[in-house]
Amino acid sequence: MMAQQAAMSQQRTSYRDLREWLQRVDALGELRHLSGVGWEEDIGRITEMLQHTDGAPAVLFDEVPGYPKGYRVLVNAQGERPRLAVTLGLPSNIGALELMDEWTARMDALQALPVEWVSDGPIAENVFEGEAIDLWKFPSPMWHQEDGGRYLGTGDGVITKDPESDWVNMGTYRVMVHDERHTGIYISPGKHGYIHRNKYFDQGQPMPAVVLAGMDPLLFIASCIEIAPNVSELEWAGGMRGRAYECLRGRYTGLPIPAYAEIALEGFLYPDRQRLEGPFGEWTGYYASASRQEPVFEVKALYHRHDPIILGVPPQKPPYEAHRFREYLRSANLRRELRLAGVPDVTAAWCHGVGGCRLFNVVAIKQRYPGHARMAGHVAAMCRAGAYLGRIVVVVDDDIDVTDLNEVVWAICTRADPERDLDLIKRAWSGPLDPAIRPGEKGFNSRIIIDATRPWEWRAEFPPAIGPTPEYKRETREKWGWILK
Ligand SMILES: Cc1cc2nc3c(=O)[nH]c(=O)nc-3n(C[C@H](O)[C@H](O)[C@H](O)COP(=O)(O)O)c2cc1C
Repeated sequence: MMAQQAAMSQQRTSYRDLREWLQRVDALGELRHLSGVGWEEDIGRITEMLQHTDGAPAVLFDEVPGYPKGYRVLVNAQGERPRLAVTLGLPSNIGALELMDEWTARMDALQALPVEWVSDGPIAENVFEGEAIDLWKFPSPMWHQEDGGRYLGTGDGVITKDPESDWVNMGTYRVMVHDERHTGIYISPGKHGYIHRNKYFDQGQPMPAVVLAGMDPLLFIASCIEIAPNVSELEWAGGMRGRAYECLRGRYTGLPIPAYAEIALEGFLYPDRQRLEGPFGEWTGYYASASRQEPVFEVKALYHRHDPIILGVPPQKPPYEAHRFREYLRSANLRRELRLAGVPDVTAAWCHGVGGCRLFNVVAIKQRYPGHARMAGHVAAMCRAGAYLGRIVVVVDDDIDVTDLNEVVWAICTRADPERDLDLIKRAWSGPLDPAIRPGEKGFNSRIIIDATRPWEWRAEFPPAIGPTPEYKRETREKWGWILK
């Protein structure tokens, strides 16, 4: 009921930009302010600690040595559920399942809102062109010790347009600063920005692009979660929050630049100019794509607000911040996509953070017919939420808690017989970040689908599981729990 009501309400979020979001989070006691911490090493090491610690706050670094006061870096913004709830305009004490249901209801009801064009906004408080551009003016941290450079873009959004249609896309692709006016942009094969890029490059044209290096957390979610092709994440995010995003038109590209973003780099990515990009610590927990020659992005105009804030989301060994919040959102999306693909009676889905919400996904079904489990497994491995760089999909019966690794592994160990219950999918969508594929051979990988449901044909004879039921267990604890104290 609550989900439906919220889905139907108009404007869902009370903040206009990252700054107002920070006020909300600060009021909840979820934000720490730190001054005087260096970009060379300490911001990165503190961020890793926060991202890997339950209950850690968001941290806003200011007065970074060598930089003006006010030039800030925000990290671990959405590492805990109350802060994700603020982003979505939900009660900060919302439970995981409620949050997922609410997200699903909004996804079902979502109507994209075209951006509202405006002629001015805070992002244009400072504009630089040509020689006046200096990307070193921001305190971009060295996020990991072995990184090949300083990354201004981690919690970023790269806005591009399909040269063959009106489709404007925004995706989070890492941005390493090469020099005052040039960066790298690493886009994995198959991502929408990569498809756009190759269409321009095939014509020998540079790709126009805008990089947002600081923005409100809902825009960031839109940018880094899998949204269907031909959908603008800016319009999608407008629909999700119930209010269109106001955007300026980029002077050089005509691309939309959100008026309340913090930092925007407008320019072109060139097919015939390449520089070494990486290595960079990646979400699999490795420097797997090492360093490669990648196209260079030349910045034609730099826009930023007074006292700009970099949104820092450097990947770490999973699970880290992005996995903490995407565990809810990608799991809800996987469950929804299974439903939309016509797989009946999917009772739960969970993209485990330990697999980076991609490598180890579990689906629970109430088995209805022979072949149902394989259908669920294969769709989960190949739908939009599960296709890129997956590895293991497990299908379990609905008595298994998909979020509990012990239960899932128990089901695998006791209900699946390898000869009967493993399916392989070969030549699936992977890419340079896949640590299990040898350098020089990256591109495809294989998937294993483990059917850990009770075998359909003799499910009635399958040995009964030892209790107790959750209710019985609760009663035991009520009556005898004192023994544990
Ligand atoms: C912190 C973070 C960093 C990311 N960095 C990259 C990256 O460097 N390159 C990339 O292709 N995808 C990266 N991704 C994943 C994409 O943002 C994600 O797959 C998104 O859905 C891509 O948008 P698209 O589907 O419109 O291409 C990153 C995600 C997060 C959360």
